[in-house]
Amino acid sequence: LNYRVPQTRRDIIQTLIKGLQRMEYRGYDSAGVAVDGSGKDHAASISLYKKTGKVKALDEEIYKNNSIDFEAELDTHFGIAHTRWATHGEPSPLNSHPHRSDKNNEFVVIHNGIITNYKELKKYLVSKGYDFESDTDTEVIPKLIKYLYDNRESNYMSFSTLVERVIQQLEGAFALVFKSIHFPGEAIATRRGSPLLIGVRSQYELSTEQIPVQYNCSKSSSRHPYFSSTHTSPQTCSAHQDIHAIIEHTNKVIYLEDDDIAVVVEGKLYVHRIKRTAGEDPVRVIQTLQMELQQIMKGNFKAFMQKEIFEQPESVVNTMRGRICFDSNTVILGGLSDHLKEIKRCRRLIVIGCGTSYHAGVATRQILEELTELPVMVELASDFLDRITPVFRDDVCFFISQSGETADTLMALRYCKQRGALTVGVTNTVGSSICRETNCGVHINAGPEVGVASTKAYTSQFVSLIMFGLMMSEDRLSMQQRRLEIINGLQKLPELIKEVLALDDQIKSIADELHHQRSLLVMGRGYNYATCLEGALKIKEITYMHSEGILAGELKHGPLALIDKHMPVIMVIMRDACYKKCHNALEQVTARQGRPIILCCQDDPEISKMAYKTIELPHTVDCLQGIISVIPLQLISFHLAVLRGYDVDYPRNLAKSVTVE
Ligand code: G6P
Repeated sequence: LNYRVPQTRRDIIQTLIKGLQRMEYRGYDSAGVAVDGSGKDHAASISLYKKTGKVKALDEEIYKNNSIDFEAELDTHFGIAHTRWATHGEPSPLNSHPHRSDKNNEFVVIHNGIITNYKELKKYLVSKGYDFESDTDTEVIPKLIKYLYDNRESNYMSFSTLVERVIQQLEGAFALVFKSIHFPGEAIATRRGSPLLIGVRSQYELSTEQIPVQYNCSKSSSRHPYFSSTHTSPQTCSAHQDIHAIIEHTNKVIYLEDDDIAVVVEGKLYVHRIKRTAGEDPVRVIQTLQMELQQIMKGNFKAFMQKEIFEQPESVVNTMRGRICFDSNTVILGGLSDHLKEIKRCRRLIVIGCGTSYHAGVATRQILEELTELPVMVELASDFLDRITPVFRDDVCFFISQSGETADTLMALRYCKQRGALTVGVTNTVGSSICRETNCGVHINAGPEVGVASTKAYTSQFVSLIMFGLMMSEDRLSMQQRRLEIINGLQKLPELIKEVLALDDQIKSIADELHHQRSLLVMGRGYNYATCLEGALKIKEITYMHSEGILAGELKHGPLALIDKHMPVIMVIMRDACYKKCHNALEQVTARQGRPIILCCQDDPEISKMAYKTIELPHTVDCLQGIISVIPLQLISFHLAVLRGYDVDYPRNLAKSVTVE
């Protein structure tokens, strides 16, 4: 954050703290800020504040400090702030950012990413007498810049030259912002592999929509920049995610490219590169983003997750908007049209993701196989890579990711690309790494998802994959009846989702009964196996109860041993091809005194009489039923978490976007 108009120190700190609070949803364990010190020549010193836990705790910590003059007006100021999600070293104030070069805070740095050669650098710097105070990889960066500064050949060496030299030594992924008492009123930001955007605010109408990339720093442009980078995300920033920290100041942003160096001197922004590469773009365009602050506020809901569950009647419509023509029964996914022929010629589809996004693949596998008549593999990105899975040029690989930044999924994408497969992104984040690196793709258009536990993104991913199947089968005569049935089902989906949401009170009363339990099994098969996996994941993520999604077909091969009258079990039994088999599983459970809570279709007395409790759901086409049946499980997990007293949106140890492998 940079300021050039007079501001009180209190305002400056509040802007930084608010920016961090807007990013809280991503998950973090500690936070810190660096601002100019107190005193007449404020830029001659830097004050650092760091704290584990919530940003609010950091805010309180700062105001405990009586020696700061909060009302002092500063006319030039550059502050930096960071939330950390521990990778190297436990959450602690010392391991939090900003990291510093020495006890005088000569150089301070915030980092998003991972420095893979930090051990070698640390060894070298320790041998040169530099003392380290944290266990992080990041700390080598401020130490290294100080080392280069202490050993500079000339007193005129600029801040940006020092930073250029630092990054030449770094391996891994980083977005960095530097501040130094030796270069008051100046800040440098750079990236390689991790995203970094600059929010631009000007007192004047911006006369141009781009910033020329310099190969020296002679030209100026008078703009007030805010830098923002999210936790450890490799590659580029995701437009709808990173902007959270700055959206209330500006919606004009510049995405920096790898090895760009952005310099702010006295409020003016310059972007330059270390060296010119052939064919590269000579400008960085200033983009205007359409997101409004209200879109990321939680309104009357207790938690973002709850808001997002209740948004699903609209979010699925947004996913379908402009893509399905209900009159002509056609589906067009614009992002795939150019590659459709190639996709139709492929030998198999591989659907890859992590967590909830993986479950969207499991949920739609059967219908994709049916509509495309292709073999479909659904893979967890990490396992897919561990197995060094064979991939061929005539494979089409789908990468499902809400954030578009998940490291495992991104690595799998690069792996498939290297082997010549066609790559397709299915993400919720325009401009994300997965969007940028795939050959083509589908934006699921679910709108910003803030709660760490994914809900509306799942149902929108589900709908997107079904739409893909419909698009692939458009010219198959034999499938027209089936396609029609599905398209009609999609049209009615929002109304059915509303019906399920209306069961919230009943679902809450079931959660009331269950919230003291330690374990909760969720069982089903066929189209609803994914529902069970996803339901159990929601329960684990936010209630910290043990929960398992069990394939009912496997019941007698092990899980049945868990069943007795004390073990809480939820069963999903819908009227589809697996109905009879699910009924058998139900018999096996009740024969062992199990007392199942059953998600079933309305008017199913057969099932109801065997259930301890039922949640009756509207019936839809078999392959869409999972969209309906997952919602009660999202709601149960939400109510359980609230009843158990946990923070629904920020579950312990988890991050919204896991950008480390
Ligand atoms: C993390 C989140 C999950 C999410 C998964 C995949 O584990 O906590 O909620 O499902 O990442 O994220 P993606 O952004 O790739 O869908």
